[in-house]
Amino acid sequence: GERRPAAVTCTAPINIAVIKYWGKRNEELILPINSSLSVTLHQDQLKTTTSAAASRDFKEDRIWLNGREENINQPRLQSCLREIRRLARKRRSGSEEESTPCILSYRVHICSENNFPTAAGLASSAAGYACLVYTLATLYGVETELSEIARQGSGSACRSIYGGFVQWLMGERDDGKDSLAQQIAPESHWPELQVLVLVVSAERKPVGSTAGMQTSVETSPLLKHRAEAVVPDRVKEMCEAIRQRDFERFGQLTMKDSNQFHATCLDTFPPIFYLNDISRCIIHVVHLFNTYYGQTKVAYTFDAGPNAVIFCLEQTVDEFVSALRCCFPPESNGDMFLKGLPAGPAVLS
Ligand code: PMV
Repeated sequence: GERRPAAVTCTAPINIAVIKYWGKRNEELILPINSSLSVTLHQDQLKTTTSAAASRDFKEDRIWLNGREENINQPRLQSCLREIRRLARKRRSGSEEESTPCILSYRVHICSENNFPTAAGLASSAAGYACLVYTLATLYGVETELSEIARQGSGSACRSIYGGFVQWLMGERDDGKDSLAQQIAPESHWPELQVLVLVVSAERKPVGSTAGMQTSVETSPLLKHRAEAVVPDRVKEMCEAIRQRDFERFGQLTMKDSNQFHATCLDTFPPIFYLNDISRCIIHVVHLFNTYYGQTKVAYTFDAGPNAVIFCLEQTVDEFVSALRCCFPPESNGDMFLKGLPAGPAVLS
């Protein structure tokens, strides 16, 4: 009979884009208007943990996120579930197992948890959908390329299928078969590179990425210019900076790309604001720090929310954290919670 365990648990880490994805050319298949590039964090840092079980006793597919049951019929959830099951069926047809009882005919229960604030611009959907797709694939024994399926959950999720430095190629086809993630360097390639996550606010973002992107594509001429004339060269240059472990170039490109993304948000009509006063203050501190040293020692990037992600090399972490503590003393830290900020590859404080 079917020996594969009928329940599995997997984890997937978040990824932080250093060349941002913003804007779709196909809403349903989630095909982007530009390629993007990201760094996947370590497995044991900011991550989603998902369990999936199949049983003949389950009456329907169900899903719980952070302990609350959610609607399983959301189109993007259904896309992922349907694709994995289709591949599992394909794999079985023609194999000897075909005649044995199969968990494919059972309903699944899925339970997913983030160890960080959901939907606060911290790539929760990236880790979430990557984890969902990986967990279901493991449950059903599907061994194909998974980034194409994760992409249909949430665009940025396709990059969390791989570790280290990952590129999401926008592709050219209309069916999305060439819109895939690929690793450009493993995590071990640049061990000195550190990531600090500064949680400015754990609140849900006011404008979700789906709605935000739609309005930007419809109204922002800057976004069009960015996708066509800026990002293609920038992705190439970023790949090279990573290959050469050139922090100066990596850091500058990262900051410029984050700034251009937020400029397209301002260029969107009506405008979208993801950064707040604390975010802008962090930007200011980073530039003061770099100016003081006469080189790029620290770089910031912000997604669809006010939280900062800081990149720097190992030897810079302690000093930059001290500088931050001066600017945001623990007793007057406003919204930013910096207590107990240790050095390490990724820090949620
Ligand atoms: O994948 P989504 O729909 O959550 O969009 C992610 C958009 C950004 O985080 C702002 C940029 C990116 O490339 O991750």
